Amino acid sequence: MNEWEKLCPVEDIPDGSQKLFPLGAMDVLIVHQGTRYYACSNECPHLGENLEGCEVSGHIIRCNGHGFKLDLSNGKCITEGELTLPIFKVEVRDGWVCVQV
Ligand code: FES
Repeated sequence: MNEWEKLCPVEDIPDGSQKLFPLGAMDVLIVHQGTRYYACSNECPHLGENLEGCEVSGHIIRCNGHGFKLDLSNGKCITEGELTLPIFKVEVRDGWVCVQV
């Protein structure tokens, strides 16, 4: 069964920002865009560049490595259909950003 991890108070990730959290062997990137939070692996499924700090527009993140676009809502790579970005469920609970890992 997957566990929910409390990451940080919502104030720590203002709208339009991102924050990286080491969780076990993986770095999870939380992205806050408008009313939505997204959680994904920090590792681009193309050649493994870090996604932290990459440009986000709506629910699309564009990897700085080679410009591939990834959909944060479902993990699909728009540029190369066979690639998938691991994504995680994320919720705000009692003022905390929580992720299911
Ligand atoms: S490593 Fe991300 S697009 Fe190539």
